Parts: sequence; C-alpha cells; structure tokens
Amino acid sequence: ARLAVFVSGGGSNFKAIHAACLDGRINGTVVAVVSDVPSCGGVAYAREHGIPTLTYPIAKKGEFQGQGLTAEQLVDGLRNTHKADYVLLAGYLKLIPPELCRAFPRAMLNIHPGLLPSFGGKGYYGERVHKAVIASGARFSGPTVHFVDEEFDTGPILAQRVVPVFPTDTPKQLAARVLREEHQVYPHCVAALCDGRIAWREDGIPILWEAK
Ligand code: GRF
Repeated sequence: ARLAVFVSGGGSNFKAIHAACLDGRINGTVVAVVSDVPSCGGVAYAREHGIPTLTYPIAKKGEFQGQGLTAEQLVDGLRNTHKADYVLLAGYLKLIPPELCRAFPRAMLNIHPGLLPSFGGKGYYGERVHKAVIASGARFSGPTVHFVDEEFDTGPILAQRVVPVFPTDTPKQLAARVLREEHQVYPHCVAALCDGRIAWREDGIPILWEAK
C-alpha cells in the first residue's frame, strides 16, 4: 500500500515505519512526507531517502513564510499525484483539514503518547501529556494509535500499549519509555492496515486481526 506520513519534528515514528517498510514487516511504501516545518528532522530524513516532501499548511511567519499548500492542493496532491492509500500522522502538531479527513475515511491513523481518552485533546501534545500524567498520579501510561476524525485525538482507538509510570519519573523519562513503545505499536498497526487486517464493529470500533 502507498503511505503518506505527516511529521512536525524528529520523525522517529516515521523512521520506525519506514524501516519496517524496507524490511518487509509492513507491506507498504512511503510515497510522500508532509510537514508544517520544512526544516524538521523528519523532512531531512525523507529527502535523504528520496521521498517527496510537501509543506502544509502555508507558513504564516518565519523563514518559510508564504510557502506551502492549501488544503485543496494537499488533498489533490496526496490523492491524485502521490496516490496515497493511507495517511499516517506521526508527531504532526497541526490540525488536519476536514477535506483530508473526508478524502481518507477509515484510512488515516495518528499516534498519541498517552492512553486516550485520558490526557488527550487540544493542548495535550508532546511533553505536556507526560507532565499531566505524572501530576495525576496515574501508575500507567502508554501510546494510543487511533483513526483520525475532525477533532484532536478523538477518533476510534485501534491499539494501545502500557508502560509503568514511576512517581519519581521526570516527563523526559516517561516520554522516552512511551516513545519506545510507540515504535513497536505504530508499525504493528500500519502493517495490519496495509494487509486489510482491520475489521469494524457495528458501533464503529475497529478490531485489529493479528497476522497468522
Ligand atoms: C511522539 O511522542 C509522538 O507520540 C507524538 O509526537 C512525538 C514525537 O514523535 N505524536 P516523532 O519522534 O516526531 O515521531
């Protein structure tokens, strides 16, 4: 299957997915990388591997001011130029335009570094998630892979992994523990998506069938 990946930062989840495509764990190819930050590590990695990169949204300020695609151009590019089958958000921090959600129904995943529906939604991203988890006294956390709908972090959950939270944890220590699990569970979910090993309960909850 043809995959478009959205990044805003280092792109460690993108790299984990790309590696899994190269070694055959995922029956997929990354055909495009989209970012709101053209200078980020994920874009640099894509360029090094000859993967086309797109900028979305149009930068309002800074060195890339005025550069970027409109939502319509983004959807057209991903559907018709790159012919993406699935869209994977991997550390992407801007809101996805509704046009894109509509163009990829049940075909867009996101990974969130907390156990949704807790510690999610607007404002809960990156280290803020881990700070809130530690402050809450929760004893477990972990990544959630979910399908994307038009809100932040609210789409149907596909998979989660659990890691312990130690009361002595700093946000950075917890972030690292969660990130290690992200790099396992996201490729696992993408492999199932590419293999068509996801069924849907009639109440809209997705079920991941393991490979034989
Ligand atoms: C990760 O915590 C991921 O869960 C969140 O963005 C952070 C950075 O991801 N969505 P990456 O290293 O850029 O893939």
